[in-house]
Amino acid sequence: RNEEAQKILEAHQWLSKLYHHLLKHTKEGKEGLEYLLNRGFTEEMIDHFHLGYAPNSKDFVVRFLEKKGYHPQLMVKAGLLSSNESGDYSDRFRGRVIFPIRNHLGKTVAFGGRAIHDQEPKYLNSPETELFHKGRLLYNFDLARSAIRKQGAIILFEGYVDVISAFQAGVHNGVGTLGTSITEHQANLIRRYVEQAIICYDGDRPGIEASLKAARLLRKAGCTVKLARLPDGMDPDDYIKVNGAEKFQREVLGASDTYLAFIMRHLRKEYNLNLEGDRIAYVERVVKEVATLDHAIEREHYLKELANEFELSLDTLKQEVSEHRRRSG
Ligand code: CTP
Ligand code: MN
Ligand code: MN
Ligand code: MN
Ligand code: MN
Repeated sequence: RNEEAQKILEAHQWLSKLYHHLLKHTKEGKEGLEYLLNRGFTEEMIDHFHLGYAPNSKDFVVRFLEKKGYHPQLMVKAGLLSSNESGDYSDRFRGRVIFPIRNHLGKTVAFGGRAIHDQEPKYLNSPETELFHKGRLLYNFDLARSAIRKQGAIILFEGYVDVISAFQAGVHNGVGTLGTSITEHQANLIRRYVEQAIICYDGDRPGIEASLKAARLLRKAGCTVKLARLPDGMDPDDYIKVNGAEKFQREVLGASDTYLAFIMRHLRKEYNLNLEGDRIAYVERVVKEVATLDHAIEREHYLKELANEFELSLDTLKQEVSEHRRRSG
């Protein structure tokens, strides 16, 4: 079993080299390279993250791995090949730009592939294997670790593209959850390294939902959470390409919201605060969130803000918060 894992790691290493070589030095890889350069990634980033290209072939990788002596059935288990009922093997990644996904020890255990034309799905990752558990791994954690320590903060992005884009913009303490929000396991892992976490997910509906989920898990794990401020509909990569590195650092990361400020900003869009019923519902939602804050000074800060805006008595709001806190023990 151990031997099997070793073989799988080796195969990833070979394949990662092959994909990278194809991207940089071959005719087949040219459109992959052009795609990345057109997106604004530099050669330096392509090397640093060892990006590659999987040719648009049914069996290029099948033949390559066979020649290297890897059993195709094991390579299916590794997530590198697919097989059908009649026992034919085929390449899993075809005609895609390849992002090697490394574990915390720096070993490549999976690949992510982005379509360069309009193939579906846009992103295809390796399946879960014995070496790759999406919910346990943070993309780029191995390389970001020292920057995370030095800066005393970790920045969470949705995936590899945003991590690399941010890295190119000088942000070296970024990691990626692969398309979904984080898990409890990842939150606990983060807390073991650092207290401050900045969530920088996409500024769209799924990104905002995932941000809230991540924020709750991270707070539960004992992190102090901030949430970056992206304009509606933009993701970090879009923002950097449009506004540049400096503005990203200053106005998106630098001006990130506290958990409560983020919640308030987004709830305000869901309610029509000119309507009495909505005003009450809004205040109740916010009060409930305030009740989850650990520090009395922080709670008072937001309650005062609410009391002022909605002309309510601070005492009533405080009572309400105590009630919530008593109930949730
Ligand atoms: N992702 C993933 N698996 C998916 C979908 C997304 O791993 N099924 C990851 C990828 O790393 C991707 C990131 O999540 O870079 C963000 O996904 P999404 O916002 O959907 O990508 P877009 O920003 O729309 O992609 P692009 O900028 O390449 O058009
Ligand atoms: Mn998308
Ligand atoms: Mn997204
Ligand atoms: Mn995105
Ligand atoms: Mn994007």
